[in-house]
Amino acid sequence: MKKIRISPSILSADFSNLGKLIVELERAGADSLHLDVMDGHFVRNITFGPVVVKSIRKLTKLPLEVHLMIENPDMYVERFAEAGADMLIIHMEVHCNIADTIARIKAKGMKAGLALSPETGLHGALEFLAEADQLLVMTVSPGFGGQAFISECLGKIGEARRYIDEKGLKTVIAVDGGIKADTGRLAVEAGADELVAGTAIVNSKDMTSAIASLKGSDSGGVERE
Ligand code: DX5
Ligand code: ZN
Repeated sequence: MKKIRISPSILSADFSNLGKLIVELERAGADSLHLDVMDGHFVRNITFGPVVVKSIRKLTKLPLEVHLMIENPDMYVERFAEAGADMLIIHMEVHCNIADTIARIKAKGMKAGLALSPETGLHGALEFLAEADQLLVMTVSPGFGGQAFISECLGKIGEARRYIDEKGLKTVIAVDGGIKADTGRLAVEAGADELVAGTAIVNSKDMTSAIASLKGSDSGGVERE
């Protein structure tokens, strides 16, 4: 039985209580934390940068997966490494040399992820998958939490699953955006290994059961062979 990893996004958190939330998410069974960095250029929203990642690093041993929704990821690789990020996820749509940036991230001792916005096909990303530790398939337009899951992206998850299995790659397929119990199940059935969820976890009354439900450890949850 395959274990589904859950990576809560803190985007919809009350940031005045961020420290408490981080500790609670670890206790609630999170496998990693998904940190959404936005620059107001690649997406309209602005969130936080390496300073906040560094503060979070002090509070938890969970792997920090930093989702860079920024125009110039190259400029910040070193600073996020110093801040204690475990993984930097860059977008296919940014203007950088994807292979070079992945290599720079790994040279700094971090894992590298590659994200696809909903309108971006898988085809252009295939050549990078052997080097990418994670493929992040976005199922909402990047920028804001609390949006509805775009089910048209399910085909892309399936396509990625087949390619990764056929080639025998170790790339983890993560799905990000609008993930709740029902959409999480669809994403896992399509081939996801990891689910990123913001509002469904952080805004729930009981984060332990929200995470357990997404992991499939209750009867209504998701599991696959
Ligand atoms: C959106 C972010 C997501 C978002 C997920 O740009 O990349 O990680 O926080 O939030 P929910 O789960 O609320 O869609
Ligand atoms: Zn994200």
